[in-house]
Amino acid sequence: MSKLWGGRFTKTAEEWVDEFGASIGFDQNLVEEDIQGSLAHVKMLGKCGIVSEEEAETITKGLQTLLERARKGELEYSVQNEDIHLNIEKFLIDEIGPVGGKLHTGRSRNDQVATDMHLYLRKQIEEISSEIKNLQGALLEQAKQHVETIIPGYTHLQRAQPVSFAHHLLAYFWMLERDFSRYQDGLKRVNISPLGAGALAGTTFPIDRHYSAELLGFDGIYENSLDAVSDRDFIIEFLASSATLMMHLSRLCEEIILWSSQEFRFIELDDTFATGSSIMPQKKNPDMAELIRGKTGRVYGSLFSLLTILKGLPLAYNKDMQEDKEGMFDAVTTVKGSLKIFTGMISSMTVRTDVMEKAVHSDFSNATELADYLASRGMPFRDAHEVVGKLVLHCIQKDMFLLDLPFADYKEASELFEEDIYDVLQPKTVVARRNSAGGTGFEQVKIAIEKAEKLV
Ligand code: ARG
Repeated sequence: MSKLWGGRFTKTAEEWVDEFGASIGFDQNLVEEDIQGSLAHVKMLGKCGIVSEEEAETITKGLQTLLERARKGELEYSVQNEDIHLNIEKFLIDEIGPVGGKLHTGRSRNDQVATDMHLYLRKQIEEISSEIKNLQGALLEQAKQHVETIIPGYTHLQRAQPVSFAHHLLAYFWMLERDFSRYQDGLKRVNISPLGAGALAGTTFPIDRHYSAELLGFDGIYENSLDAVSDRDFIIEFLASSATLMMHLSRLCEEIILWSSQEFRFIELDDTFATGSSIMPQKKNPDMAELIRGKTGRVYGSLFSLLTILKGLPLAYNKDMQEDKEGMFDAVTTVKGSLKIFTGMISSMTVRTDVMEKAVHSDFSNATELADYLASRGMPFRDAHEVVGKLVLHCIQKDMFLLDLPFADYKEASELFEEDIYDVLQPKTVVARRNSAGGTGFEQVKIAIEKAEKLV
């Protein structure tokens, strides 16, 4: 089969060489966008009188037929035609005859592939954004059920201060809100048209780039033709946003894995989001959370791979850039899949309030409260810290917690202690009193829930 660009060649490559160079194996993913871009391009060619109205119409009809055939899975792509662009052009010529060859007037595969990817990412970012909102909704629903459920808060994975479980979940809600806004911000640079930049330098034909951009719903056009065909920043930004999102998900995965262990038992995952062991009958493994934590690595990999691919490239297009696609596709699949699984996993998990309750009553996470108590009665905080530190040590030696310690021991430690310390030390009181803006106090958590409600 002769190549669409074969004129200058006297020999044809062997099939295995063609296979190595082809991208059709993966860029067939862009078929919808490729045809969409061509439809706008040919409409512009017709409007500008570069092809006749009649030719434009024939080409348009041919492209529409191809779109239908593509959707039915009827197109049989060939490695001989290298990539999605040449495959579609070949199908078009087969479909409508030599007039199909006019479609490529005033454009190059270089602005074409860039256009395809801008269109593709715009759509994917919209879908991912709505998946983020779904997950935020699931976190918010759980949070609403657990404003007054208290869990130990940790620093260094050591019990630190008790917090509302809702507050903990909402921390992830706000991370996801940043992820959402990062993607949205990226959209501004995704939604710009490279179409009409040609191979690198523009074209001799009197094209109207603004018109084709408008037809495709782009907000504007690239100002510089060299930049238009060699820019992949918008994919890098997408991958960076995705890597950050996955990092957030991965951190929550880690907590879910810990919380569902026998050591914590704070939550139980629904059976549908866990798996068993082929040998140990008692096992219920948090596989989905582990898998998402693991998949974070491949998204980081795609980001790094693209940065590396681009770093030494001279202007403008270089074939290296064909390597931009698989990582991008993989990140899209990974991010969408992970978000969807996560939403199900969060909505269906059981929160073991009884275990959490027991946990916050069997630790020293109320110790700061005691130091604050002394400090608010005039003792310098540093001295109060020392007094309470000694009391904690005393408790450890007696194998008890602060709430169990007899009042006489408190009095001995400091004259400033009154009987009300036993109320002050209750985990509920401890949490409620952290009523500073953005803190875990129940009032603050309720305010946060109201704010969050407006964002889902
Ligand atoms: N398959 C190519 C890619 O993905 C399309 C652009 C090819 N352009 C070229 N001049 N060879 O990058």
